[in-house]
Amino acid sequence: MRTSIRTQHFPESIIREMTRIALDVGAINLSQGYPDFAAPQVLKDAATQAILDDWNQYSVTWGLKPLRDAIADHYRRRYGMEVNPDTEVVVCCGATECMIAAMLGVVNPGDEVIFFEPYYESYIPNCFITQSTPRFVSLRPSADGRWEFDPDELRRAFNERTKVIIVNSPHNPTGKVFTREELQLIADLCIEHDVIAVTDEIYEFITYDGAQHIPIATLPGMAERTITISGMSKTFSVTGWRLGYAVAPEDLMIGVRKAHDFMSVCAATPLQIAGVTMMALGDDYYLRLRQDYAQRRALALEMLREVGFKPVVPQGAYYIMADFSAISDEDDITFGLRMARDIGVACVPGSPFFSRPELSRSIVRFAFCKKQETLEQARERLQKLKRS
Ligand SMILES: Cc1ncc(COP(=O)(O)O)c(C=O)c1O
Repeated sequence: MRTSIRTQHFPESIIREMTRIALDVGAINLSQGYPDFAAPQVLKDAATQAILDDWNQYSVTWGLKPLRDAIADHYRRRYGMEVNPDTEVVVCCGATECMIAAMLGVVNPGDEVIFFEPYYESYIPNCFITQSTPRFVSLRPSADGRWEFDPDELRRAFNERTKVIIVNSPHNPTGKVFTREELQLIADLCIEHDVIAVTDEIYEFITYDGAQHIPIATLPGMAERTITISGMSKTFSVTGWRLGYAVAPEDLMIGVRKAHDFMSVCAATPLQIAGVTMMALGDDYYLRLRQDYAQRRALALEMLREVGFKPVVPQGAYYIMADFSAISDEDDITFGLRMARDIGVACVPGSPFFSRPELSRSIVRFAFCKKQETLEQARERLQKLKRS
């Protein structure tokens, strides 16, 4: 094989593969998490104007100064976090790049990295690329429909090789929003074992039923050991603009910035200019975002339940994990492919979110970040499941 051993260990993204299949067969794409509705006009205007104003060249690798200032201001206003925009912020090509830059910046070969399973697909390749070993802690749906973990299992996952725990909240794929008590337990273990928290808070503004997003960096003793990651993709419905950011204490940020510098140099400069406008949007924008997503969630849950799926209600993000064992005894991959090809609705088989196939055999994930009419159309097509 001429490819590196590192890249032989993981496949291309199954989530993105499902989008390719959806396009091929003309299925409604409820697989990959990107909106099919427009971004706010004010952002499109800001990006267009930035290009007309000739913001065409590389920016400072850490991110344009006005954007770093706006990000630091955002953390101060919303969460009371003190962040120095000159030394503790970096703007990357999406949270995805922040994540790998953070891992490359702090993880050594042979280190262990803890995260919750099911997990967002990219954490596995991130471990292979950094030659670290993943340690999984299971999330399981409880009787009252919340995803929970066993505190003892979490405690057992920490050891002298643990360097990082990835804390993704609101969580993809489950929609779990970690509570203050759960975050406190994680924080206590990080402090006890001198572990760094790398967070993925890309869905921080998409929460339901009063669930409150809490950055773990705001817990006592955590600001100095946390790399907080978020971005514009989901909050502003611009996943293709590739804007993400990380904040961390300077001694950690030095490593993250170096990794970012030599991976991508900088995020797209005119879009960073538009990013300043994004960060200035007021509370009414966020309220509307939440209300719109609550409506989409309600419709998506209804359409899945009425044809026999057993969905677990998400508290945040815009995905639903659903058990399909009452509809079919196929495995998740076979069922997922049939859904796209025969039913005309693409979802993601559970497999990419789990370390072992038996854990996801009857599970698929639906993304509901779609227009009302797209979801209505999907609902109609799903009726075919009743007859198949
Ligand atoms: C948990 C999680 N993190 C990160 C990302 C990617 O974010 P970005 O578009 O900023 O790279 C996604 C996208 O689906 C996600 O679900």
